[in-house]
Amino acid sequence: MSIEHRIIIDTDPGQDDAVAILLALASPEIEVLGIVAVAGNVPLHHTEKNVRKILELAGRTDVKAFAGASRPLLRPLVTAEYVHGKTGLDGPDLPEPEMALQVQDGVDFIIETLRREPSGSVTLCPLGPLTNIALALIRAPDIAPRIRQIVLMGGGCFEGGNVTPAAEFNIYVDPHAAATVFQSGVPITVMPLDMTHKALTTRARVERFRTAGTPVMSAVAAWIDYFERFDEHKYGTDGGPLHDPTVIAWLIKPELFQGRDCNVEIETMSELTMGMTVIGGA
Ligand code: BDR
Ligand code: CA
Repeated sequence: MSIEHRIIIDTDPGQDDAVAILLALASPEIEVLGIVAVAGNVPLHHTEKNVRKILELAGRTDVKAFAGASRPLLRPLVTAEYVHGKTGLDGPDLPEPEMALQVQDGVDFIIETLRREPSGSVTLCPLGPLTNIALALIRAPDIAPRIRQIVLMGGGCFEGGNVTPAAEFNIYVDPHAAATVFQSGVPITVMPLDMTHKALTTRARVERFRTAGTPVMSAVAAWIDYFERFDEHKYGTDGGPLHDPTVIAWLIKPELFQGRDCNVEIETMSELTMGMTVIGGA
């Protein structure tokens, strides 16, 4: 199978981020050019280490890991240890990573890659707050027309929010970055809560992962056990939403999804509805 998508993953692992990364690494139609960590679910020193743990688990230390921003553009960092645990990847016991973090700043890596690769050939896949992507667009506006597309997990329409009644976590944590990205003119495909809340892990599915008998699948089952307890309790469902892998799933099987073109604005002024995705035409 030939490569159809060359991507940079920007991420705050997070158990669902981890599954998304594994899915991308396992997909022959996707080439992962690099993985950049951002502060989000947990602080940056955990997310960058988690990226390296995931790459080592997958046996893919050939993929470079970078660290980007340690805090949102303007607001103080809000984290979600109450969902993801203290490390962000609580669940299975994974060894401390041995592979090195790249010395180059993650935002500079995004800029340099987009300037080096043929225009229109690189897709950005943000799975966390949009701080690194916004910083890249602010530092180097020339990269915007070179980005093939941005496919991101974030926001909600009729589903509202998950961190507040109005806002989804990734947009809420850095609404100013999100506003920058949504105003950039780059083609954007969004996986909102409206969709991810239909992509439920179920007990039966997780048991199939657990009994597959490989170290990767055992880790995935243990991550899901830990991560989904929060949403299972909140929504009373059999399993919970596995948000971030839908970004990669859309790249490899777009026929599973339906969507439409909408105008998306980000609320950055009102504390009560901060980070709300205000969607026209849905
Ligand atoms: C998003 O927030 C994080 O908790 C998850 O990793 C996902 O990216 C869902 O709102
Ligand atoms: Ca995430």
